[in-house]
Amino acid sequence: MVNANRLSLLLSFTLLLPSLRLSLSTSPPQQEPDTPINRFQQYLRFNTAHPNPNYLAPVSFLTSLAQSLGLIIQTLEFIPNKPVLLITWQGSNPSLPSLLFNSHLDSVPAEPSKWTHPPFSATLTADGKIFARGAQDDKCIAIQYLEAIRNLKERNFVPTRTIHISYVPDEEIGGFDGADKFVKSKEFKDLNVGFVLDEGQASVNNEFRVFYADRSPWNLIIKAKGAPGHGSRMFDNGAMENLMKSVEVINRFRDSQSDVVKAGKAANSEVISVNPVFLKAGIPSPTGFVMNMQPSEAEAGFDLRLPPTADPNLMKKRIAEEWAPAIRNMTYEIIEKGPLRDYMGRPLMTATDDSNPWWSVFKQAIAAAGGKLAKPEILPSTTDARFMRELGIPVFGFSPMTDTPILLHDHNEFLKDAVFLKGIEVYEHIISGLSLFEEANSI
Ligand SMILES: *[C@@H]1O[C@H](CO)[C@@H](O)[C@H](O)[C@H]1NC(C)=O
Ligand SMILES: [Zn+2]
Repeated sequence: MVNANRLSLLLSFTLLLPSLRLSLSTSPPQQEPDTPINRFQQYLRFNTAHPNPNYLAPVSFLTSLAQSLGLIIQTLEFIPNKPVLLITWQGSNPSLPSLLFNSHLDSVPAEPSKWTHPPFSATLTADGKIFARGAQDDKCIAIQYLEAIRNLKERNFVPTRTIHISYVPDEEIGGFDGADKFVKSKEFKDLNVGFVLDEGQASVNNEFRVFYADRSPWNLIIKAKGAPGHGSRMFDNGAMENLMKSVEVINRFRDSQSDVVKAGKAANSEVISVNPVFLKAGIPSPTGFVMNMQPSEAEAGFDLRLPPTADPNLMKKRIAEEWAPAIRNMTYEIIEKGPLRDYMGRPLMTATDDSNPWWSVFKQAIAAAGGKLAKPEILPSTTDARFMRELGIPVFGFSPMTDTPILLHDHNEFLKDAVFLKGIEVYEHIISGLSLFEEANSI
């Protein structure tokens, strides 16, 4: 169910009345310098951190930016107060599949006391660093998309394919009320999207990184039951003993995956990771735990990440037979945080070879911008890209940040002004190259 009315009404109302807009929104005063860096800083100053992200103000800000560029604006609201902002630059041949550039509005929290500059101040230091939560993840691309369009428009560039930009909520908490709802909507279907660029990650060297798949997270909880007993007795099949056996088996599997990485046979993101995240057992007492009693129940939680090449059924079999076998009186629960296969049952991977015509156009655009591309990678974590790949749409994760330390979700997240500005240029090449690419009419 789409409920776009309330929010878009408010937005169009505030836009029609510029004087009122100033008092209603947190738009900056008129004397702000009219530069891409300043617009980036303004966008970074909206506190969109969970658990209470402010979505309305940044959506209003982006709406006015898009308005000033003469773009088409739609605000969709699939879940109350979780807007999806959709901006469109109509191509000369709208019958061709369109291009979508996605970014998320929200960010993870920051601990201000651990930062050298307040995380929502967007302080620009003398050496050109812009400090802010979201500077890398992923408010840079949000503004770069629009700045690239601004520059292309100034040069009277006319796109052939239609270009859409989406700003979605809730990526950092799984995207289920954001991108997931958006891509399953009629509005999304009507966009006839042929290719998507979504966020990537910073590169510590001079090569741009590109991601063709995400790993899919599973939350695994295993539970053991066993006879309780006096702490002094050495009996078989206690709950703790059964759980510890599982922990050993899981650790051996973890080592086997880790060894593959250490031997240089695969990247971190290409193996199945499993990490213990909680252990729960014991009988509480006023001073801690009852020490002379073996508990009858014990539980452990694991964070699992599966690359698209992993076989989910094989993994489930392993968990059922080896990690939490019923024969050892164990039970388990797997919470899958998103899809692993597309609607055709294929692994969620975007091809990076000649079978994918977008790949060569993308590569050419990077080269035209004077950039070098690193070997395509699987992202170790997870983004909204998986919801679009699930529909069979090719998606690359890409954020144009070279020579930049990887600081997403970290203290003192920053991006250099020169890196940000170079990124705009890169997107000018990408947007123009992809939108003029006409051959792959059927894709
Ligand atoms: C499983 O539970 C049953 C019933 O409590 C018990 O007899 C059996 O020994 C347990 N087996 C293991 C391996 O813990
Ligand atoms: Zn992100």
